[in-house]
Amino acid sequence: MPDPTGPAAAPAALSLDEKAALVSGVGGWSTAAVERLGVGPITLTDGPHGLRLAAEDGAAGQFSLSNAVPATCFPTASALGSSWDPDLLAQVGEALGVESRAAGVGVLLGPGVNIKRAPLCGRNFEYLSEDPHLTARLGAALVRGVQSQGVGACVKHFAANNQETERLRVSAEVDERTLREIYLPAFEHIVTTEQPAMVMAAYNRVNGVYNTQNRRLLTEVLREEWGFEGAIVSDWGAVADPVAAVSAGLNLEMPGTHGTSARKIVEAVEAGDLDEAVLDQAVAHMLRLVERVPGPGDRTAKVNFARHHALARRAAAEAAVLLKNDDAILPLDPEAELSIAVIGDFAHTPRYQGAGSSLVNVTRVENALDAMAGLAGRSLALTYARGFAQAAADRDPALHEAAVATAATADIAVLFLGLPAGDESEGYDRAHIDLPEDQVRLLEAVAAVNARVVVVLANGGVVRVSPWERHATAILEGWLAGQAGGAAIADLLFGKANPSGKLAETVPLRLEDTPAYLNFPGTPTAVTYGERIYVGYRYYDAKDLPVSYPFGHGLSYTTFTYAHLSTKVEGAGDQVRITVALEVTNSGPRAGQEVVQLYVGDPVAEVDRPLRELKAFTKVDLAPGQTQTVEFELRARDLSYFSAREDRWVLEAGEFELCIGASSRDLRLRATVNVDAPPLARRLTLDATVAEWLADPVGGPGLLEALAGSGSSFQNPEVQHMVAQLPLGRLITLSGDRIDRGRLSRLMATAGPEPIEAEDGHHAR
Ligand code: BGC
Repeated sequence: MPDPTGPAAAPAALSLDEKAALVSGVGGWSTAAVERLGVGPITLTDGPHGLRLAAEDGAAGQFSLSNAVPATCFPTASALGSSWDPDLLAQVGEALGVESRAAGVGVLLGPGVNIKRAPLCGRNFEYLSEDPHLTARLGAALVRGVQSQGVGACVKHFAANNQETERLRVSAEVDERTLREIYLPAFEHIVTTEQPAMVMAAYNRVNGVYNTQNRRLLTEVLREEWGFEGAIVSDWGAVADPVAAVSAGLNLEMPGTHGTSARKIVEAVEAGDLDEAVLDQAVAHMLRLVERVPGPGDRTAKVNFARHHALARRAAAEAAVLLKNDDAILPLDPEAELSIAVIGDFAHTPRYQGAGSSLVNVTRVENALDAMAGLAGRSLALTYARGFAQAAADRDPALHEAAVATAATADIAVLFLGLPAGDESEGYDRAHIDLPEDQVRLLEAVAAVNARVVVVLANGGVVRVSPWERHATAILEGWLAGQAGGAAIADLLFGKANPSGKLAETVPLRLEDTPAYLNFPGTPTAVTYGERIYVGYRYYDAKDLPVSYPFGHGLSYTTFTYAHLSTKVEGAGDQVRITVALEVTNSGPRAGQEVVQLYVGDPVAEVDRPLRELKAFTKVDLAPGQTQTVEFELRARDLSYFSAREDRWVLEAGEFELCIGASSRDLRLRATVNVDAPPLARRLTLDATVAEWLADPVGGPGLLEALAGSGSSFQNPEVQHMVAQLPLGRLITLSGDRIDRGRLSRLMATAGPEPIEAEDGHHAR
């Protein structure tokens, strides 16, 4: 098949059949070609942390996960998210771009930027964070890296795809403000800053409408409001009705349906049910995509797999989070005269990647046991005991006993614990967030014979630590650390690398404490996002709930001090710009990186707002004793909430609290700034409440005057308080129409410029 050369054809040059074919895929991973016009196919392939391109000679079938070409497996997104390092994600993206390019892949299907709404989501290992700001910045960096190689990135899964249960049928019932503040910002930021080649419409429905048929989300929000110029592809098998999908703004259905969808599209155009101009728009987006990204024959890039492995190792080291380190037990001195019992199946057979569409056929894998042996000096004695088997079917008391005996004679026990692969995957949700019972029992038994226990965790989604953490002197959360994860863990344990990861997701005390506990996963048809904007730390903070480890937490082998916070506010309203500066010093003995986090709160607001929200962060690398000035800039959007009533972001004037933290609950510096913004002006109607009338500078006095003549007791503040929530029209009716409607109509014409919403809460646009 020839690769396209020169400019793509125009939709007008294509026959109706060719157009319909172009918006329906071919097989599992390709788009259709129009050979006579030199329009070549392109290859789309997974995934976010490693290439999963089906081998051309693979006999296992196009959807098999086992016959992919060898590729570097980087840490999964839950690990990369914990690095809080956009530069690192850009480098990983670049490496993914190079490997894609070398394999003739035009579009890489990632990153996944869905928000971790509930820890039970089986696919959380593939998502970056519970926070939209962090997800947006890290996702954008990954896209930037991939696209720097000319390969397109496909941001997925748009939108509100936060569970695997019933993912093809369920409707996420989510209010507009929550969508705008929590679930859409990552997509919005990536689209507006990086123009990804593709966005993937998710399986599920949002407020009753399939994402793939959702004109409002695909066309009005993504295209018209955010200016998306790339192509919109369906998730694999997400299209229920190909004609409705094209009408709503979808540009490509994947995988191919052997001509069925194309036939339906042709018939719909011929019957006048689908405007050919709408199909032409989809075709135009596809032609631009073909022009933009490399075709399957373009394999000029050369991959340096050794370099990528080294990058995967650095990424894994940056992503690991040191949750706890009592008595500074870590790092271990590799030159010390010390006996270390390395215990746990994961030390020898790492679980380093997730399951499902992101499964990578790795170039090599390093385990922690061998890597530790490689770093250990001559006086350090390492012994290994398997302790347990990862697979539930293979549980063996003899392994347990042998491990406890090994621990009893060692100075330190390092336990590698984690989730069995079957506990989390694309395609289904988790049943709980606990480690397997036999592993916890082993930890307890080891701790009974050895007081110095280091736990290293391997898991994609978060696991509960509260039942057992008292038995661990230190806990290093390694996540699913990719093919070089074992080496990275050894680097961290022996201090060759200094931990700098921070939690991108809260570790709750119990599942029952989590925000969506009562609303997950819903019924087969609907899941209510009842916790609204209070996702992750926004919820725990609003409820003042204790957690095991808060969002943003992560220790280092050195210490950092924060000082000299200063703020400067320039401009007002939409143009406001706040500069925040502070000094961070490495006050400890080792070089290390610190993630400085800026949280913003609006204590007095017209609507309920989270106590504080992450709005900026940076990772600084400091030598011992070194001080660096860190500067952040905040703009109007960082201070605003989304008003469903106004259908826009609203910045309220007044005081905002800025907190600088080493985590969301370790706030080191605080400042209050005053921001000027125009008051919210609304046109008053009879549907506006008495309170809204009274708050209006023109309507308020006018209403009081009109009521004064009605002989009511309305001047009494207690009465005003009592009727404040009544729409004015009702008050008039209740007054027996003694209030002068004509006078109020004249007022309505003069007060506030914008119509306000009708009584049913719907805002007419
Ligand atoms: C997943 C996508 C993936 C696609 C292709 C779907 O099941 O949800 O993330 O890109 O398959 O493998």
